[in-house]
Amino acid sequence: MTQTSPRSVIRGTGSAVPSTVVTNDDIAKIVDTSDEWITSRTGIRERRVLEKDQAASDLARRASERALEDAGLAVEELDAIIVGTCTADYQFPSLACVLEAKLGAKDVFSFDVNAACSGFLNALSVTDMFIRSGRIRNALVVGTDVLSRFLDWQDRSTCILFGDGAGAAVVSASDNGDRGILSARLQTDGSYAETLYIRAGGSKKPATLETVEKREHSIYMNGKEVFKVAVRSMEEISRRVLDEAGICVDDLSLVVPHQANRRIITALASRLGIPMEKVIVNVDRYGNTSAASIPVALDEVRRQGRIADGDIVLLNAFGAGFAWGAAVIRF
Ligand code: ACO
Repeated sequence: MTQTSPRSVIRGTGSAVPSTVVTNDDIAKIVDTSDEWITSRTGIRERRVLEKDQAASDLARRASERALEDAGLAVEELDAIIVGTCTADYQFPSLACVLEAKLGAKDVFSFDVNAACSGFLNALSVTDMFIRSGRIRNALVVGTDVLSRFLDWQDRSTCILFGDGAGAAVVSASDNGDRGILSARLQTDGSYAETLYIRAGGSKKPATLETVEKREHSIYMNGKEVFKVAVRSMEEISRRVLDEAGICVDDLSLVVPHQANRRIITALASRLGIPMEKVIVNVDRYGNTSAASIPVALDEVRRQGRIADGDIVLLNAFGAGFAWGAAVIRF
């Protein structure tokens, strides 16, 4: 008798964003910009910024508790916690270990994956491998980032783009072969490492008074280059996962893309031939929340009842590295 490997199903989701709202008009009081410029170039109207006494793991905890509740799963039943983040509480240990303790999880393994804005998709794809291999049955997959702490609030080309948030999904093994992650793929091109990065604070250039004075601990980005490669790469990888899953564009109920910029999302939808009614956009309310953007958007649409059993959903992301990925899921 042949035995098929289990599939990974998303059993519950949760999200958390800070309560402090920063509008484009608020930013226009700090740098030379305007609501009109930001809205027309990015689609962003406001973003959330984390309160000073909180860290990324606090947001992750709130999103995770909501996902566990939604899934009806006790924390003791988790086998693994895998977190996509590039703004962990500490250089080490991982945010996943901090989160594990905050949730009171026991007898699990936990680790972070750092793929910047693609962090959630990377974490989900790694989780899928553990589940398919039979090694684990229940995982908490989290995307959380607090990029407001790594922005130069004097650089109008970057400080307008990002916001803070966390999203989580409880992913479980299912032996019903129809549902779950049908295909997932990751890709990177490290030759673009310095197109979008934080110059100092790592082993190459540790923090000194000089790096602080030169404002090298915040995001540097060549926005035009990111835009171009993002659209092309997300289109290619989306087509690959759809082909592998034997799904055509018309079969998709929804697309939940990484929320970097409304123009990237509409360009991608147009190249894939997907009508915007099927494409989720919440970048207007949260800005780019990096690894949190997909799980926050996914949680919102699930809670709005926009995903029914049997619906097929495409996720795709792109970010620093460059690192990108896509997954196609039947709910
Ligand atoms: N307000 C007003 N003017 C601005 C602002 C601002 N906030 N930022 C830049 N400008 C000015 C520039 O100084 C420049 O002025 P100049 O012509 O006098 O030199 C002018 O606007 C045009 O600047 P560009 O950088 O060419 O503007 P562009 O149209 O490319 O838009 C943007 C910039 C929005 C960053 C765009 O390149 C973009 O969206 N790139 C994608 C980047 C992204 O989303 N990164 C997120 C991380 S990666 C990811 O998640 C996919």
